[in-house]
Amino acid sequence: MKKILIVANWKSNKTELETKDWLSAIIDLKRENLENKEIIVCPPFTFLPDMKAFIDEQSLPIKLGAQDISPFDEGAHTGEINGRQIKEFADFVIVGHSERRKNFLESEDLLNKKIDKAFKYGLAVIACASNLEQIKTFQRKEKCQLIVAYEPLFAIGTGLPDTPENADGMSLSIKDVLGNIPILYGGSVDSENISGFTKKPNIDGVLVGRASLNPKEFYAIIQNA
Ligand code: PGA
Repeated sequence: MKKILIVANWKSNKTELETKDWLSAIIDLKRENLENKEIIVCPPFTFLPDMKAFIDEQSLPIKLGAQDISPFDEGAHTGEINGRQIKEFADFVIVGHSERRKNFLESEDLLNKKIDKAFKYGLAVIACASNLEQIKTFQRKEKCQLIVAYEPLFAIGTGLPDTPENADGMSLSIKDVLGNIPILYGGSVDSENISGFTKKPNIDGVLVGRASLNPKEFYAIIQNA
């Protein structure tokens, strides 16, 4: 049976108190049978330490990811959070989300530098792309985990997801280019439409934005995946 990855991308949302409430509301996850599911939550950097402490203390079946990584090692790089710092709290990092490509003009060259640094510090990379041209620029490295999230621009935050058939076809094309690595679909995934995607043979999971902010909805997403 394939392992389904369910990744929450909180983007720039929530306060410390709201994060505590979210965690408390999802605590029953401990009692779910999650044998074939892996849950990864990517909050803003500031919540990673407290979330890790809570998850460890409660043995919650959630892994943590960061939403970005510095293309540099530690040193004189004001405002940057580097891979060594992230690895203290998280095992995954999102790179190349379309919002960063658009709003921060992140180039392919910069994204590959970030991927390199993530691998250097033992982080698995969730590399986002909206088309095959972008996907062709991702470089794999032996013994490093690369996960690709296919996120068509028209589907992100619009409530208008791609069709499972199209997303499955894209996932197959990505595997043709990059090899048999996990491929996620992202863009307006919710508890109603998730199973359409996760039951497709070439889709290994989902990247969920807005619907992951509400703990009840996220819980239902996990159950229905
Ligand atoms: P959405 O975002 O689920 O709110 O569409 C997905 C994403 O941007 O990763």
